[in-house]
Amino acid sequence: MTRAIYPGTFDPVTFGHLDIIKRSANLFDELIVGVLNNTSKSPLFSVEERVNMLKETTKDIATIRVESFRGLLVDFVKETDASVVVRGLRAITDFEYELQLAQTNHVLYPIVDTMFLTAKLEYSYLSSTIVREVATFGGDISKFVPEEIAIRMYDKCGITKL
Ligand code: COA
Repeated sequence: MTRAIYPGTFDPVTFGHLDIIKRSANLFDELIVGVLNNTSKSPLFSVEERVNMLKETTKDIATIRVESFRGLLVDFVKETDASVVVRGLRAITDFEYELQLAQTNHVLYPIVDTMFLTAKLEYSYLSSTIVREVATFGGDISKFVPEEIAIRMYDKCGITKL
């Protein structure tokens, strides 16, 4: 049984993340979406809210589990008995950081390998920061996130949409 982890902050989950999640779920027996409870970023949504949003948007895929973690990714990989980390590459600018992350994780825990999926071209510009920025000013985020996430975003930003 091969168990993989797709880690991230997911503040909020976007169509870009969901594309990577769906494609990687097809490749492994089980995929754990690991939501980082990070102190360095100041997320708009609490970790519980981010976990719930991911559960809601992936509920149709039986082989997916959503869990939060804090601390090192490799420790979460060990705890969950996973062996692969999945990461999405949107553009060449992601590469340097991702290479560093993958190599560090491999040195810290040689059992773990990182698998990269290229983001779909139509989502290659997307980031959670962009979505938050557009939502804050009441812009249309329907092309970036599912409707249920958009509703929560506007609610969080105090924006009333008819
Ligand atoms: N589609 C859309 N957006 C995407 C995306 C995709 N396929 N892939 C990444 N993004 C966006 C994210 O939403 C995020 O946006 P933001 O910066 O505006 O919030 C941005 O790209 C960066 O994403 P990502 O690289 O996944 O960062 P992250 O903070 O979400 O996750 C971790 C990084 C969790 C993997 C990493 O910080 C980690 O492992 N931390 C734990 C501590 C640790 O072990 N450190 C490593 C030791 S070297």
